[in-house]
Amino acid sequence: MKKNKFSKNWIIKQKRDIYVKKSKLEGYRSRAIYKLQEINDKFKIIRNNILVVDLGAAPGSWSQYISRNFNNPKIISIDLKDIEPIKNLVHIKGDFNEEHHKKNIQNFFGKKVDLIMSDMAVNTTGNKSIDSLVTGELCIEAMNFAVELLNKKGSFVSKLFMGSSFNEIVALGKKSFKDVNIFKPPSSRKDSKENFIICRNLR
Ligand SMILES: C[S@@+](CC[C@H](N)C(=O)[O-])C[C@H]1O[C@@H](n2cnc3c(N)ncnc32)[C@H](O)[C@@H]1O
Repeated sequence: MKKNKFSKNWIIKQKRDIYVKKSKLEGYRSRAIYKLQEINDKFKIIRNNILVVDLGAAPGSWSQYISRNFNNPKIISIDLKDIEPIKNLVHIKGDFNEEHHKKNIQNFFGKKVDLIMSDMAVNTTGNKSIDSLVTGELCIEAMNFAVELLNKKGSFVSKLFMGSSFNEIVALGKKSFKDVNIFKPPSSRKDSKENFIICRNLR
């Protein structure tokens, strides 16, 4: 599909989308908020006083959701893009793949954390195999980081696409975590190969 036709279809879909409308009404920065809310409704991974790392956080709706709905969270986020300030959040603008950013995130807490969540995705190319492969690599990086930094009862949530690296990622998750689930939130677009992996309780 040509790029301008692709963008035009995307704009039409956005305008019709009930989650886009709802997020605007409720003051959230992205429709992505409802994916995290639905994940949390099902798996109960967020609580008061939680320590959180938000990977690929911009524009910030996941962090907004936690900051608004739970008492006293402490969140650090990273994204290639900057984000507008959010209460209880410290943001790093940079590439998560760079080691010094990972070190800074670890040093920020100085101890193990409760939740590492990644909604990282590169700009989609329109080629679903390439998109799923690249997002799969980001998911593996995030999972390796989570295994280092999470406390024993911590949770790791990440976007992943159905595709060539899907089985490998699920197997990696099962190696390090006792509970591994794949979930497609109702608000995730039906025509997208997007899913989420929810890993809880380190082995
Ligand atoms: C789908 S958006 C995240 C939406 C976010 N969860 C929210 O609720 O607002 C994906 C983000 O991943 C970021 N991203 C992609 N690769 C990254 C990387 N290597 N390091 C940091 N952020 C990255 C992109 O810049 C983009 O903002």
